[in-house]
Amino acid sequence: MKVIAYYKNQTKHILVLDACQEEINSEDFFQEIAGVYTNLEIMFIESLILPVRIIEALINLVDQYGQETFKIYTTTESLSQYLFELSIPNIQLHRLSQIRSENDSEALIKFSEEELRDLLTGIYQIHGYDFRNYQLENLRRTISQTMLRETALDFDSFKKKILQDHEVYQRLFLNLSINVTSFFRNPVLFKELREEVLPYLNSFPHLRIWSVGVASGEEAYSLAILLDELNMLEKSIIYATDFNAFVLQKAQNGFYALPPLRQAGENYRKSGGSKRLEEYFHVNPYYARIKPYIKKKVVFFHHNLTSDTIFNEFHLIICKNVLIYFNSQLQENVVNLFKQSLHRNGFLVLGRSENLFNRQDFIKYKAGFNVFKLFNQG
Ligand SMILES: C[S@@+](CC[C@H](N)C(=O)[O-])C[C@H]1O[C@@H](n2cnc3c(N)ncnc32)[C@H](O)[C@@H]1O
Repeated sequence: MKVIAYYKNQTKHILVLDACQEEINSEDFFQEIAGVYTNLEIMFIESLILPVRIIEALINLVDQYGQETFKIYTTTESLSQYLFELSIPNIQLHRLSQIRSENDSEALIKFSEEELRDLLTGIYQIHGYDFRNYQLENLRRTISQTMLRETALDFDSFKKKILQDHEVYQRLFLNLSINVTSFFRNPVLFKELREEVLPYLNSFPHLRIWSVGVASGEEAYSLAILLDELNMLEKSIIYATDFNAFVLQKAQNGFYALPPLRQAGENYRKSGGSKRLEEYFHVNPYYARIKPYIKKKVVFFHHNLTSDTIFNEFHLIICKNVLIYFNSQLQENVVNLFKQSLHRNGFLVLGRSENLFNRQDFIKYKAGFNVFKLFNQG
């Protein structure tokens, strides 16, 4: 992180450069905000996310100064949205580009399957992320939307931007990695986990759980809450992975906006929960933060299903709403990875619209639920 500070017209300006995913080198920042100023402005340049300490410092500054004398500027949509979710006011500075009109867009977003595949190969070779076996229709839609936002003149110039400019690629990557999630999403499945699957697994002295494609962490923390209510949390550890470092940092922060959390209370109850979901959080006027005894049982790290391999043996693998973005070949590869990573008496749990077609090596544990066990393994 690089910090530049200067005064102009009785205002202290602090510019913070580089992504702030790690708390390394943040001491300069804390030194610059210490003290009392007539007006204070902080601008985060190209940061997608901020670590916990900096967010807490911003909230203290909002409380200390008020919105008139303290302003936060952001240059990415991701950070701007994240801060708004946490009720931290900020002003997003837009890039010097304008969104095209609908008419322009028609011509622009026409590109052939071959051109699309060519772009995906370039992305793999240059940026190391392999989208070649993702569902083409989803890719086409997201790439078209990103092209419009980036105001490329045509597909070729868009391709050049993506391959040569890491920041443009990063924006496309964030659009491609769809991170929609919530606490106790698909509550009927969580009920099944609560009533059948986890009690079955309780006979193991220790439990290793893998939450795959965890996005901003809600799924893994929901599992930890379930385990706590079943008195199984102490002996369990949840490995929560995703290939998107930005959402993983969000998950690691453990801060959640209040309105969706309150809405999720209904799903928690449908999953058989008898408390208030908010009891698992420290709630302040800005946001809710997951309690440390839940958080410490979840470890987050980067794992890419298209390129990384087996890293442990698990009693439960939960991979919801991830396979739907893959073509059948990639789904097959990923399920093979799960098979190698599963304890012989373990469970694999998929999302509502996902399935294991034509596989003889897994059986459905119970009709109506996408919960599977390995077949013929005793
Ligand atoms: C829609 S979210 C699902 C979140 C959560 N599992 C749920 O059901 O609420 C899909 C997640 O899969 C992740 N993902 C997509 N491709 C991936 C890959 N190749 N490796 C690891 N994670 C991936 C995305 O980054 C995203 O966070």
